[in-house]
Amino acid sequence: MTTSTANLRGQAQAHLLPHFTRATTWRDDNLPVIVRGDGAYVFDDQGRRYLDGLSGLFCVNMGHGRSDIVAAASQQMQQLAYWTNWSATHPSAVEAATLIADLAPDGLGTTFFVSSGSEAVESALKFTRQFHLSQGNKQRVKFIARDMAYHGTTMGALSVTGIDRFKTPFGPLLADVRHFPNTHGEKIPAGGTAADLPSIQGLLRIIEEEGPETIAAVIAEPVQNSGGALVPPEGYWQELRAICDRAGCLLIADEVITAFGRVGQWFGSTRFGAEPDLITFAKGVTSGYAPLGGVLIRDNLVGALMDSPSAGMFSHGGTWGGHPVSTAVAVANLTAVRDEGILNNVRTLETTLQNGLNTIQANHPCVKEWRGTGFLYVLEFTRDRHSGRELSSVEAETIVRKILPEAMKRTNLLTRADDRGGTMLVLSPPLMANQEVVHDLLSGVDGVVTAVEEYLGQ
Ligand SMILES: Cc1ncc(COP(=O)(O)O)c(C=O)c1O
Repeated sequence: MTTSTANLRGQAQAHLLPHFTRATTWRDDNLPVIVRGDGAYVFDDQGRRYLDGLSGLFCVNMGHGRSDIVAAASQQMQQLAYWTNWSATHPSAVEAATLIADLAPDGLGTTFFVSSGSEAVESALKFTRQFHLSQGNKQRVKFIARDMAYHGTTMGALSVTGIDRFKTPFGPLLADVRHFPNTHGEKIPAGGTAADLPSIQGLLRIIEEEGPETIAAVIAEPVQNSGGALVPPEGYWQELRAICDRAGCLLIADEVITAFGRVGQWFGSTRFGAEPDLITFAKGVTSGYAPLGGVLIRDNLVGALMDSPSAGMFSHGGTWGGHPVSTAVAVANLTAVRDEGILNNVRTLETTLQNGLNTIQANHPCVKEWRGTGFLYVLEFTRDRHSGRELSSVEAETIVRKILPEAMKRTNLLTRADDRGGTMLVLSPPLMANQEVVHDLLSGVDGVVTAVEEYLGQ
């Protein structure tokens, strides 16, 4: 059967089961069909141009249509389309792992490749359990994660995810998981430190209740995306490190979004002084040009597992792990991120972005606040910031399901309306965006916020 752009929408509705999409959205006559990309912009089947305000799904960091990355993939396919990381290796996986080790925080020099963020989290959880077992600590099986955090969809990753509505259809999940408060709205009290934060106190209570000797790992994102770009208070990650050291458990930084430049450093961990034992990554490692994820693991932990007489190997893997084409794409992409000064671009333009968000907030009482850093933000809506009046549940739902999607379409801005922990617009533009694109983004956001204001009758 051939597929013309005219009937693509209908055929999608007939034959594709969408990811995390309500039936009403999927069956809508205006279901977007995106057919082409160029830099920070994509085009639909009608030729209409949109600013990609979410970098696809937080991944197209180097923008669309890069011929150098395409050439790297094509060359690799011709040379060697497939080989494995099981009892053998091949040049592009080695080159990608070596480059990532070079960019990573000290001591984290070994990568286990997979194909997605969920698999990266799954692999990190499995590594920590097998590591503890190999060291004679078979009771260390429990995981602690944060409320409202999204860590993926496979059963283990879903178990540590802290969003109940994503989990309830699939229970029972892993039983040995507890969640502690995220840092939303938290401020270090005057004269205090991160140790005084209620979230940190909550974590300590859980460790005490469960018994420190039973904890395998604590997992958290450097900037928590779900819940609304939650930037950690000063000293927070140092406190997590100290707590994990005292409990004897491992610390996992889930950097599926924050790795490779999203917050202006190679890793979010570096930006916030985190010293995790494992870092999960995906998305930006290939800028979305091929599926790839991975776990960076402390070399001494890998050595201890591999050298342990009881284990002698990480008993985990998959057909696509370290795929030659995906890892060749990663090398081309990360080399471009490095050689084109992309981290510096993010650090320079974040001020422009933040100034723009300040202006939008000042001009619109329906903006409660903006949060975020680097190229990762949310704008949170309220009814009226000045009077402190919050949105009703009907208003919140109408804004997320109707007003924001329609306004985004009108303003040619593609990004996400999010209701996980607030009524929010998420912004995560490609990291190669220049001043002009950032201004275009801010003007689109202003248009979208104006639409919310009109709906609220302000
Ligand atoms: C922090 C975090 N972890 C894990 C995942 C899961 O990644 P994937 O969708 O590639 O499975 C995501 C996806 O957005 C994420 O944001």
